[in-house]
Amino acid sequence: MISSELESSNGHLILGGVDSVDLAHKYGTPLVVYDVGEIRKQIQDFRTGFEDSGFKYEISYASKAFATVAMYQVLKQEHLHTDVVSGGELFTALKAGFPAEKISFHGNNKSLDELEMAVDNQIGVIIIDNFYEIKLLERVLNEKKASINVMLRLTPGISAHTHKYDQTGQVDSKFGFDVESGQAEKALQLVMKNENMNLIGIHAHIGSQIFGIEGFTLLAHKMVEIVADWHKKYNFTARVINLGGGFGISYTADDEPIAPSVFIKQITDTIKADSQNDDLPLPEIWIEPGRSIVGPAGYNLYTVGSHKDIPNLKSYINVDGGMGDNIRPALYQAKYEAVVANNMDAKATQEAHVSGKYCESGDILIDSVKLPEVEPGDVLAMLDTGAYGYSMASNYNRNPRPAVVFVENGQDKLVVKRESYEDLTRLDLNYL
Ligand code: LLP
Repeated sequence: MISSELESSNGHLILGGVDSVDLAHKYGTPLVVYDVGEIRKQIQDFRTGFEDSGFKYEISYASKAFATVAMYQVLKQEHLHTDVVSGGELFTALKAGFPAEKISFHGNNKSLDELEMAVDNQIGVIIIDNFYEIKLLERVLNEKKASINVMLRLTPGISAHTHKYDQTGQVDSKFGFDVESGQAEKALQLVMKNENMNLIGIHAHIGSQIFGIEGFTLLAHKMVEIVADWHKKYNFTARVINLGGGFGISYTADDEPIAPSVFIKQITDTIKADSQNDDLPLPEIWIEPGRSIVGPAGYNLYTVGSHKDIPNLKSYINVDGGMGDNIRPALYQAKYEAVVANNMDAKATQEAHVSGKYCESGDILIDSVKLPEVEPGDVLAMLDTGAYGYSMASNYNRNPRPAVVFVENGQDKLVVKRESYEDLTRLDLNYL
């Protein structure tokens, strides 16, 4: 949500019909706020892309972007699938009442316990990443006399132009079976031989925060090419082609993301044309958006405290949160916009540098943003913080993690309590 599109009333930022300044006072800061209507709108935009395409599809939300009980409940209400990458995310989803059969399990080093948990709960599909996992899962299924749906995660040799930490589709990646060297084909043979593994399709994920459409087009071509090859050689039919996530969003006015529906049209057109050329039945298309579902819906509210003016250089505005509730600026040099939530009508008069309260020079939340004059007590709202903000939060410097509030249709609901100092020491044990 770029700042020019924000709603305000009497100079206050309004989120989901609720006054954000009231939220800051009611729940304290730092506070993470999600506009649930915005989450639903993003989901709908993906759906619109699939409508009329003639494809069966699933939108499988990548929970790593933001995974809490309340979030899984919204997903359930929206009839979405979800993907989890740990026993913890799986536990949270199940605890939220999310249907097990709509869960995919990812990960390059799933433990025996995690695989057992997935099989015991008969989740929808395990996305197998490597040969060790094939063996481990084989063991679990034999011991439990069970069977389960699986997909193979492939590394198709396509890299997206994005931050280097986010590239996962190229050959040198810790994820998936490499296609080029024949590893993927070997995995296919092993899995097809196993009666307890029901291979429903193939998966690939080429990166995150992708703006270009070319990477997805290339991937779509490549996946159908692989299916056609395997169909010829092994009579394998992919019920599902899963193209992962990675759809970029706008954090600042410089970012120009492509609308989800446009991405999806391109993907479905490509898969349809290639499948028809190769005489293959149309597969189901699954995608795994994380950031694009929750990123634009999230806001971090902070209270402004001290500031430091360095003559002839710059001024730092210090807020009451920082790298503990949003590590992305420090870790990825991620950029964000911000507004003064209690002074929305004021003109931006300064180039501000927003820093957090953590004892580390790198704890800069925004390197440069245009803001009006600010005073201690003002509420600063950082925009588009919904993806990988709270989910990557830490207790660095023994700061409690913030509370999370959902807003929708003028109502606010606390969905994650603020951590207390007692919570911080809950797991500590005495030594003496
Ligand atoms: N599927 C798979 C297999 C993934 O590995 C990921 C993200 C996604 C889907 C969702 O991607 P999205 O639509 O959210 O871009 N912490 C980093 C992002 C790491 C993404 C890892 N994988 C950040 O804050 O930018």
